[in-house]
Amino acid sequence: METIEKIGWMLNQPERWDFSGTENLYAGVDLGTYKTIVIVVDEKGTPRAANLRKAEVVRSGLIVDYISALDIVRELMDEIRNCSPQKINKGATSFPPQTETANINTTKYILESVDLEVLRVLDEPTAARFALNMRDGAIVDVGGGTTGVAVIRDGEVIYTNDEATGGEHLSLVLAGHLNISYEEADQIKLKKENTQQILSIVQPVIDKISSIVGSFLNNFTGIDTIYLAGGTCELDGLAEIVSKNLNLVTFRPKAPQFITPFGIALSCLKTNGHDAEVGKWPI
Ligand SMILES: Nc1ncnc2c1ncn2[C@@H]1O[C@H](COP(=O)(O)OP(=O)(O)OP(=O)(O)O)[C@@H](O)[C@H]1O
Ligand SMILES: [Mg+2]
Repeated sequence: METIEKIGWMLNQPERWDFSGTENLYAGVDLGTYKTIVIVVDEKGTPRAANLRKAEVVRSGLIVDYISALDIVRELMDEIRNCSPQKINKGATSFPPQTETANINTTKYILESVDLEVLRVLDEPTAARFALNMRDGAIVDVGGGTTGVAVIRDGEVIYTNDEATGGEHLSLVLAGHLNISYEEADQIKLKKENTQQILSIVQPVIDKISSIVGSFLNNFTGIDTIYLAGGTCELDGLAEIVSKNLNLVTFRPKAPQFITPFGIALSCLKTNGHDAEVGKWPI
């Protein structure tokens, strides 16, 4: 099983969490529009625990319900800590590009309130890079509420941007078209057998996502590959549409929904002076 798939395998399954044979543990906390997730890695970057709650504490990338966000992160961390013989007291978190001023301190306080020393607060597509084995190209993180883009050149992040379109817009269009509730539409979207029908209905939203990405990448030459992350990229066929729209190669890793939170957790290692070269973790 590839490392990134292991996260899905152990997600919300404490009996699969394993803290043996390690001294140092780091928590990556991703407060998203769709879900809040904590992934714990050891000093080598191996995932040891993953805990997720669906929550509506973030809208368009901004934390709108601070108390609930704090409660959820505390709950997720308590559950993990209850299973871990070692202390987990260091972590990292992220924010969508362009929301720095409103978000950095808030997310940081949330981690500090649950006794995590904050090693890093980074933007989401930059975080994704820690989990993706690449040095050149663009990272596109299509989450629940936002599409974030990072341009990477020679291993350095040279540009990030973000706009409020994501999976919830796909669900809204689906709900309107099928005359069902948003919640039902969201569920239907996750079922593999509906993919073709779903794609034909939500194509305009995927076109919009493509044009957002295209406009961000407009000022750059030499980008030939887009690396996809975020739960919305789990939708079969989306990568191909984006690829065709933008005339760029797309790379969709296994389990794109875990790329950004995994990257957040991995970002802890770098600041700690561990030998944590980007791209070391195969996915
Ligand atoms: N298998 C799947 N097929 C289609 N869509 C999916 C699938 N799994 C998750 N999604 C969608 O992915 C979106 C959530 O993505 P993700 O978990 O990356 O969001 P987030 O990080 O919480 O949001 P954001 O980064 O925008 O704040 C939701 O709209 C969800 O419906
Ligand atoms: Mg996200």
